[in-house]
Amino acid sequence: MTNQISHIPKDFLWGSASAAYQVEGAWDADGKSPSVWDNYVKLPGTTFKGTTGDIAVDHYHRYKEDVALMAEMGLKAYRFSIAWTRILPEGRGPVNEEGIQFYSDLIDELLKHHIEPLITLYHWDLPQCLMDEYGGWESRQIIDDFNEYASVLFDRFGDRVKYWISLNEQNIFVSLGYQLGVHPPGVQDDKRMYQVNHIANLANAKVINTFHEMIPDGKIGPSFAYSPIYAKDSHPINVLAAERAEDMQSHFWMDIYLKGRYPKFALDNLAKQGITIDIQEGDMALIASAKPDFLGINYYQSNTMAYNPIDGVGRGEMNTTGKKGSSGESGVPGLYKRIENPFVERTNWDWEIDPMGLQIAIQRISSRYDVPVLITENGLGEYDQLTEDGHIHDDYRIDYLSQHVTAINNAIQDGASVLGYCTWSFTDLLSWLNGYQKRYGFVYVDKHEVEEGTLERKPKDSFYWYQELIKQHQYC
Ligand code: BG6
Repeated sequence: MTNQISHIPKDFLWGSASAAYQVEGAWDADGKSPSVWDNYVKLPGTTFKGTTGDIAVDHYHRYKEDVALMAEMGLKAYRFSIAWTRILPEGRGPVNEEGIQFYSDLIDELLKHHIEPLITLYHWDLPQCLMDEYGGWESRQIIDDFNEYASVLFDRFGDRVKYWISLNEQNIFVSLGYQLGVHPPGVQDDKRMYQVNHIANLANAKVINTFHEMIPDGKIGPSFAYSPIYAKDSHPINVLAAERAEDMQSHFWMDIYLKGRYPKFALDNLAKQGITIDIQEGDMALIASAKPDFLGINYYQSNTMAYNPIDGVGRGEMNTTGKKGSSGESGVPGLYKRIENPFVERTNWDWEIDPMGLQIAIQRISSRYDVPVLITENGLGEYDQLTEDGHIHDDYRIDYLSQHVTAINNAIQDGASVLGYCTWSFTDLLSWLNGYQKRYGFVYVDKHEVEEGTLERKPKDSFYWYQELIKQHQYC
């Protein structure tokens, strides 16, 4: 085990992560207003078997028990998000002190156990009132409102919290919300998607600048869902397809965050499709002025691409049921399509398991941007079973995480700077569209497919594995 982590620095943040909507529950408690997710999940057919985060795993009421488990494990860092709707129930304006109190208590509880809090400002739960008032991310008004919300958090918690994540997976919330239409607000319109994304870029940049003014010794960065692209083979037509996909799906966000500009091919290609982003005077200067201290990456899988003819596949089927093989190919006609990589295994939800892809991801980021990386998510969603002996033997998760830790160690050995590793997730939680049956945690929660269960917590075998890894790292 020690060889596997021998290049990882001593102050490495061995962490784990969650998001407010997926764990807290208490959806309307103590002055909280509804978010877009509170409402979206209640529309028929939007989530697996109608599952919601109304109760989730009740972390709002059980956070002390959860933090006690983190302490028992020896966790060094816990990444969690704050629900905007608990802090500013009207989206802006009056601060809800009960909401502040909950997160303040959580931070204190973590610090008491020497666990570094890592706060995500935005993990998708936009106040519904802002969506109703001006269409949320479709209006530039959100730039100021997001900045006001973030400023409240920097002001109240900046003395105790050093690491902050601005937007979680901007690339996912804009594409699933406005292109594929499977996240709120359920829109399928490429033009709107790219415009929303541009406004999110501006909001992200403004908040990063505000943070640096308010907390000069803190660190902030966005979390990007990075799936490094591979070509199907060395046929130049497939290599070109892969290059194009990397530009459209990765550099389109990472270049904005770290170079302050859109990749040229991507903009030209959008223009050919009749999509012109409304870039106003001062926009690119604002974007370029924001300097993240690190890039957060959420890494789950790589993507393999092949040429896709003009009459080829478009939007594919998503596997949200856990029936292996139920997802299909997807792509952009005339450019690229995602195909199965024959060299890697897949989960029951058809996510490709590729630990070396994490090393590739870190190396690409390190070389292209020369910025420290913080792994803000990585984990395996699977069916876990509480067996008759009273344990959860998730050896497959131990294998998965262990191989990804090796990949991080190797990337560091090659010269990359990696600040920490937050597994997804600490406890089991709501997997947005996939319900409670897709489990990610070190800690099993007694909550099942259609929300029945006692919510009792039980450490899985992987809990003890991570505990031992963290311990070993202190001594090696
Ligand atoms: C990331 C999100 O996309 O992946 C998490 O930041 C999410 O919130 C995780 O839960 C796993 O995705 P899923 O769809 O399996 O829950």
